Amino acid sequence: MSIGFFDSGVGGITVLAEALKQLPKENYLYYADTDHVPYGTKSKEQVKKFVLEAVDFMAAQGIKALVVACNTATSIAINDLRAKYSFPILGMEPAVKPAVEKNGDKRILVTATPLTLREEKYQNLVTRFDKAHMVDGLALPELVEFAENFVFDPGIIQAYLQQKLAGYDLSSYGTVVLGCTHFPFYKNCFRKVFPSGTDIIDGSTGTVNYLKKILLDRNLCQDGQGKVIYYSSGRKQAANIKYAKYLDILQLANSIGC
Ligand code: DGL
Repeated sequence: MSIGFFDSGVGGITVLAEALKQLPKENYLYYADTDHVPYGTKSKEQVKKFVLEAVDFMAAQGIKALVVACNTATSIAINDLRAKYSFPILGMEPAVKPAVEKNGDKRILVTATPLTLREEKYQNLVTRFDKAHMVDGLALPELVEFAENFVFDPGIIQAYLQQKLAGYDLSSYGTVVLGCTHFPFYKNCFRKVFPSGTDIIDGSTGTVNYLKKILLDRNLCQDGQGKVIYYSSGRKQAANIKYAKYLDILQLANSIGC
């Protein structure tokens, strides 16, 4: 059986890429809820309904584990999903804890969708770990739209980031947390906008490390061929060209450009 990866759109590919690296022999079912993306600017009730419908569909295809590769969907629906299904379900949340633990005395900027930052789950996370009040939150919903529309021109993205960060003292930040799975496509743009030495972190590696552990612990590993079947809101995608292009962009974002 495959491992399910779910996101509102193409963001989960940034996590799937890490899974393909660490668990190349597994097979994957990637579900992008393209009919309803973006989630981050919608209401909690709408997003919950979309996520439950999508995961029902994925469960009906047969998956042995689910990665909710979306911080927004996790904050809204992870408890309902875990109550409903018996397969292991991993969620994602902005990496506030690791950021606080390794940051030192500089501030931390958590970037995410407006809905993630508004939600109780995130507020609780900050209350629990940010004892010294070093964490600021910044919503960057347009980055989701840019990624969905395949806008990867570094000039456009950096101008957008500079405009959103105009009132901030960038040198006061030691760490920037990418708390939305669409944002790692733009990692190098963040690097260029913030002073050198600023840590830009996301949750992909941690999530996949944990996925690997769960599969091993529960004896769920499998010898597949790293095959990925992509669904767009319940419609199987005949060609994977679109997704392959995003995997290429991600490789580039982690190396030279954004
Ligand atoms: N990729 C998603 C996240 O991690 C959600 C983006 C959106 O649909 O607004 O939060």
